[in-house]
Amino acid sequence: MKTPLFLIIILMAACVYAQDASIKKDGSTYSIELPAVRPELKPGDGKERTEAMCNICHSLDYISMQPQLSRGGWTAEVNKMINVFGAPMSEDDAKVIINYLTIIYGKKD
Ligand code: HEC
Repeated sequence: MKTPLFLIIILMAACVYAQDASIKKDGSTYSIELPAVRPELKPGDGKERTEAMCNICHSLDYISMQPQLSRGGWTAEVNKMINVFGAPMSEDDAKVIINYLTIIYGKKD
């Protein structure tokens, strides 16, 4: 089946129009501002340090969406962030954060 020429012209015009919509005449592009979604963690000793250290690479949702882990589980998780992904934190930071995560987001048993 042959595509009618007028359809091709309309498609090309649409492309030119669509490009015009996102690129200004001076060549710069439009930008939009998205709302900052920064979920907070539950209150507890070590919350601030956890928010500061665990929000560098990803959302804090990664913490709040985990199942309730045991102390061993949170220790392994924090160690993985440090040893595998290179999370920059001191031993003291890690201790405070593991305590916080175990008490606030840990298994209640
Ligand atoms: C240096 C970057 C970095 C920092 C800092 C960091 N993480 Fe992560 N984290 C990652 C990466 C990379 C992943 C894997 C992401 C993926 O698979 O989509 C991840 C995934 C996770 C997950 C999901 C489960 C998993 O094991 O993949 C949890 C929970 C988590 N991080 C917790 C933490 C906590 C708690 C802290 C603070 C102690 C932290 N992260 C700090 C890089 C980091």
